Amino acid sequence: MFHARARPQVDGLSDLRAIASAPGKVILFGEHAVIYGHPAIAATTNQRTVVEVDVVGSKTTVNGHRIHERYHSYLLTAVDRLWEGDPVRLQTEGGVPSASGTGSSSALTVAAVAAIHQLKGDDYIEEIAQDAFEVERVTQGGGSPVDTSASTAGGGIAIAGLDTPPEIGDPLWDIEWEDGGWAVEAVHVPDLTLVVGNSGVKGRTDAEVAKVARAVQKNSLLRDTLNDIGQITRDAVAPLAANDWVAIGSLMDKAHDCMHMLGVNHPAVQKLVDVARAEAGTFGAKITGAGGGGSMVALTEKPEALAASIAAAGGTPYQVKIGGPGVQWHATVEEVLEAA
Ligand code: PMV
Repeated sequence: MFHARARPQVDGLSDLRAIASAPGKVILFGEHAVIYGHPAIAATTNQRTVVEVDVVGSKTTVNGHRIHERYHSYLLTAVDRLWEGDPVRLQTEGGVPSASGTGSSSALTVAAVAAIHQLKGDDYIEEIAQDAFEVERVTQGGGSPVDTSASTAGGGIAIAGLDTPPEIGDPLWDIEWEDGGWAVEAVHVPDLTLVVGNSGVKGRTDAEVAKVARAVQKNSLLRDTLNDIGQITRDAVAPLAANDWVAIGSLMDKAHDCMHMLGVNHPAVQKLVDVARAEAGTFGAKITGAGGGGSMVALTEKPEALAASIAAAGGTPYQVKIGGPGVQWHATVEEVLEAA
């Protein structure tokens, strides 16, 4: 785990080459509400994406192809905003499945930003968190730093608006944006395996964020729902610290119902939530991430059995161990793959 202002020493890297990896994430509580300043809690997973950046060639490429906005939007934004030198060659190894709700874009963004920072020799951890948020925000057109800060920090994080900081963990950094921002803290998350079920229906974070904004504007009662989500997040702190799976599970169920009210549920996701709740050993299940499709996450004492039931119901299951390390730098790509 890196600490603020830590400056990692990496053997074997020339000034012209850097390799960084960053983990995926699962949002446990607080999706959507976090955009309005309410608290959210997220944890990293044991899946990692690796990005290698080399200053070579006359054109910037990604995995051998010329960089293109349609296919490499996050990497293009990162390079455009952060790199002023000669064209770079980017190679990515993705251990975080894409469009699975487990943070593939934030892992890619954080790893790329960290590698570019390393090349520039200014790899301060909180600057990586800030830059990664800006890259993701500009590319997506909306959202909070929950994913990028989780992936940068590792372990568990709590995040809330700067005016109402979470004050439930150890302060990590502030993320600034326009005239506001978010405070990010490190929090304890239990050492557990969650089951993520991808519905296969692609949910778009930007579209769901915009949908919630419109719904909240039209129906002021939904502001109470955002408040409720914030309260559920706060209520989850003690059970997470105490490994109280029954309480965590029941808060996950409540959070799911709130997200349903916000309008970000999808029948294909609900089907997997129903499958999880019907399974013996499940403590709770909810949408994870923006919704509108995408994935659900369940807490269960029988991850193998639940993963099999999700697969039988047409979903794609992933068993993810939460609380893995945040961004890291490496001497070789093999080093990361072997560690995985
Ligand atoms: O990036 P996703 O799809 O896992 O969603 C993140 C949670 C939201 O609150 C919906 C968006 C955000 O950036 O905070």
